[in-house]
Amino acid sequence: MTDPDIKKGLAGVYADTTSISKVNPETNSLLYRGYPVQELAATQSFEAVAYLLWHGELPTADQLAELQAVERANRALPADIRSFIDAMPVSAHPMDEARTVVSVLGAFETAGIANVLDAAGTPAENLDRSIRLFAILPAVVAYGQRRRRGEEIVEPREDLGYAANFLWMTFGEEPDEVVVDAFNRSMILYAEHSFNASTFTARVIASTLSDLYSSVVGAIGALKGPLHGGANEAVMHIFDEIGTADAVVPWLDEALAAKRKIMGFGHRVYKRGDSRVPTMKAALDALVAHYDRRDVAELYETLESEFVSRKGIYPNLDYPSGPAYSLIGFDTLTFTPLFIAARITGWTAHIMEQQASNALIRPLSAYDGAAERHIDGYVPDAAEV
Ligand code: CMC
Repeated sequence: MTDPDIKKGLAGVYADTTSISKVNPETNSLLYRGYPVQELAATQSFEAVAYLLWHGELPTADQLAELQAVERANRALPADIRSFIDAMPVSAHPMDEARTVVSVLGAFETAGIANVLDAAGTPAENLDRSIRLFAILPAVVAYGQRRRRGEEIVEPREDLGYAANFLWMTFGEEPDEVVVDAFNRSMILYAEHSFNASTFTARVIASTLSDLYSSVVGAIGALKGPLHGGANEAVMHIFDEIGTADAVVPWLDEALAAKRKIMGFGHRVYKRGDSRVPTMKAALDALVAHYDRRDVAELYETLESEFVSRKGIYPNLDYPSGPAYSLIGFDTLTFTPLFIAARITGWTAHIMEQQASNALIRPLSAYDGAAERHIDGYVPDAAEV
């Protein structure tokens, strides 16, 4: 038999079709259900984009109002879920906190489904579960940050849209329009990105006909890693390490000499720049002007131009979103949970798509271990028995 053609990291492999989004690195474009993401970010609410990802079409006014009504009705953190959060150490990483909460929610919401053959749920049940997760995750993230800061919970406000209410629950103040707009754009940009590691993880789990919550828990685990979603947190640690723009060159000399990866740069699919970066950089610029923090932009731009000119590797979405979230006032550890709150839309759309035309995802591996051998003559060490 000839050696199988191994695609390490599944690089360049088409694992399935999807009608949810299209990434085209050649034209540097990203389409959600056919719409360029830049157009969606400039004109739509995150709720409308969530509807688009789940249903394939942008909502009519009535459909949007209906989704918003359900989202607003499911925003509050129920007392029993809050007590699970409070039982976790305050020093737990917020990604672990969010992953645990989704798992607990799954146990509550699927209680009574005793037969594993019913675990996958119907399309209608899964849409319902998706909307409820979409609605509650902001409260989980916001309360997590407040708890770590020793602050009281802030209850949601039904008169605010998704983005404004998220900021309200986190900071307890009505946010400025420019901040709501930048945050709304970031949620839309983070919502979906085809078969990235966390979405593919969600699809692998869904393909076994497991439940939606298990898929999302797995996806959160995949998102936490710094090569994926954890990069937005890691970018901020790098900014804190560097300090100011004039320290970029010596810092980079040292980092590259030590063969460190510079977080927020590079992408498996985009090799000439991430299609989402210009839109997020514009949102960051608006925040820089709003908070009068030119120093942040200088550090951002200096590191970008130095690294790109030396390595020819471009920023990805996590590079502008990290400092943008920091300017808004989110703690660095909260950045990747914000990514969860956005990507829950894409993940759940993919879980439903996977289950609609399912094939168990089960690739092959090429064995490169010891040649076949037999037990004859092997005597175990008595101490180990
Ligand atoms: N800093 C320094 N070198 C890099 C970087 C980087 N950020 N990214 C790629 N390289 C180098 C890498 O060292 C390798 O060099 P060599 O061929 O000499 O060994 C070459 O470029 C190819 O890199 P790779 O890691 O094999 O390529 P990949 O397609 O597997 O990598 C990546 C994609 C995202 C894992 C990688 O670029 C990376 O680790 N970036 C930093 C983490 C990051 O920002 N992740 C966010 C990804 S996008 C958004 C998201 O998912 O949240």
